[in-house]
Amino acid sequence: MLSNKLQSELNKQMNNEFVSEYEYLSMAAYFHCMNLDGIANYFHVQTQEEHFHAMKIFHFIIDKGGKVELQQIAKPDYDFASPIVVFEKALEHEKKVTRSINDLMDEAIKENDHAVNNFLRWYVDEQVEEEAMASKSLGRMQLIDGKGEGLLLLDQEFASRSFIAPKE
Ligand code: FEO
Repeated sequence: MLSNKLQSELNKQMNNEFVSEYEYLSMAAYFHCMNLDGIANYFHVQTQEEHFHAMKIFHFIIDKGGKVELQQIAKPDYDFASPIVVFEKALEHEKKVTRSINDLMDEAIKENDHAVNNFLRWYVDEQVEEEAMASKSLGRMQLIDGKGEGLLLLDQEFASRSFIAPKE
């Protein structure tokens, strides 16, 4: 059984993942509006990843005999100042998610809940990748100053990104 605190924190984290999904969907829409469908694809893939992250927690709570409590999702940003700003926000967002995973892990350790601790290790590793990807993409966007031919090249490159469900 999950403690009340861990159940509540896992539900919050599940919500954070759905929030991420929604925020990235809004970022995808921004790039579609700029006719940069390849960069939009990058964010569509990100939404699929976030959905996967959320649903993994959803099933874990159920498997542990807990109660899933879906929460409200706030309206995401949509009026971004520039392509670089979008990638800055994406990195900022991933750093926030990493902090919340770490806080959740602290609670699992405090409660000596080995199952939750073990479950969260996947997220700890995943966040290293998520931050690395966001940071690298921001760096490359800054390299081309978020405009011109460089932007079109990045658009072509990001068009080939696809979602591969991570191994359980
Ligand atoms: Fe679910 Fe991008 O972290």
